[in-house]
Amino acid sequence: MILVTGGAGYIGSHCVLALLEHGYDVLIFDNLSTGHIETVERLKKYGKVDFQKGDLTNISDINSVFRNYSIDAVIHFAAFSQVAESVKNPQKYYMNNVGGTMNLLSAMLEFGVKKIVFSSTAATYGEPVYIPIDEKHPQNPINPYGQSKLMIEKIMDDYDKAYNLRSVRLRYFNVAGADSQGRVGEWHEPETHLIPNILKSTFSGGQTFKMFGTDYDTKDGTCVRDYINIEDLAKAHILALEYLNNGGETNFFNLGTNEGNTVKEVFASCEKVTNKNIPVDVCPRREGDPASLVADNTKAKHVLQWLPEKSLEYSIDKAFEWEKILNSSILTTNSSK
Ligand code: UFG
Repeated sequence: MILVTGGAGYIGSHCVLALLEHGYDVLIFDNLSTGHIETVERLKKYGKVDFQKGDLTNISDINSVFRNYSIDAVIHFAAFSQVAESVKNPQKYYMNNVGGTMNLLSAMLEFGVKKIVFSSTAATYGEPVYIPIDEKHPQNPINPYGQSKLMIEKIMDDYDKAYNLRSVRLRYFNVAGADSQGRVGEWHEPETHLIPNILKSTFSGGQTFKMFGTDYDTKDGTCVRDYINIEDLAKAHILALEYLNNGGETNFFNLGTNEGNTVKEVFASCEKVTNKNIPVDVCPRREGDPASLVADNTKAKHVLQWLPEKSLEYSIDKAFEWEKILNSSILTTNSSK
């Protein structure tokens, strides 16, 4: 059985589906602080999924998981992930992200589980020195969120050397889209990400989309990001798990597409997919946004044989389908039955 921490969240839930499709049994461990019980209920329809509500900062919660289940490997998503919040409240990020991971690793050691796939981020690189960003790029995070993820990466290196606990750290760029069958999708409260915010503004009662910064040194003045489809991203986790199962050594990979799109290009794509003229409010820059972030994904292609396949437009189309589900409240109606 694979333990998935944070499996009720956006990226975790799509990875649970990918695991089920590959024949794995899954135990989701989640405190439901940002994830949703409705997501867990939906996942249970598609395979063997157990759920344990618990908090990684409480060592007895996580120890009891390893005591009660036979865990082969861990995929670790559970974390807070809002950059701006992490600047205002670093303690929350270090206590939960770093402290929680320390408890998880300690339970893994106690119960002899020696394989972990970890959800890391492009935010560990900080302000880019060159683009596209490969794995050799210096890691100098500029906010506590990125710093907390980098600390965990370093801890994992030490645990490999000392205890032979092997890890694969996946450094995500901008994750986009939803399950192609509409089973799960992106569901943050509040939502801060670009694509869902543009799409939400198309529904009645939605807020006007705010475009942050049109004076960057980029081709159209707006920020460039590398949008990786969520199902392509989930597939990389399966490959990382198989890599560890086949004896692969501790490693780290960028997950992105090698291509950048500006905020204005994403906006235009959303107008095309939704077939609507979307009102936009041009605002000053958002603090802490680097002008451009684009991945070099060569290493993941070579070592994991990973190939991202889905286009940005496809991701937006699936994200829009999901927003319709969220907006129609089908989820909450079903879960209360
Ligand atoms: N943006 C808007 N309006 C919005 C939301 C975003 O204009 O309502 C712009 C941002 O200013 C930025 C771009 O859209 O230029 C992308 O912003 P997102 O918030 O969607 O994504 P980020 O690039 O800020 O963040 C992502 C992940 C973080 C991770 C970071 C690493 O969501 O978890 O990449 O750089 F830390």
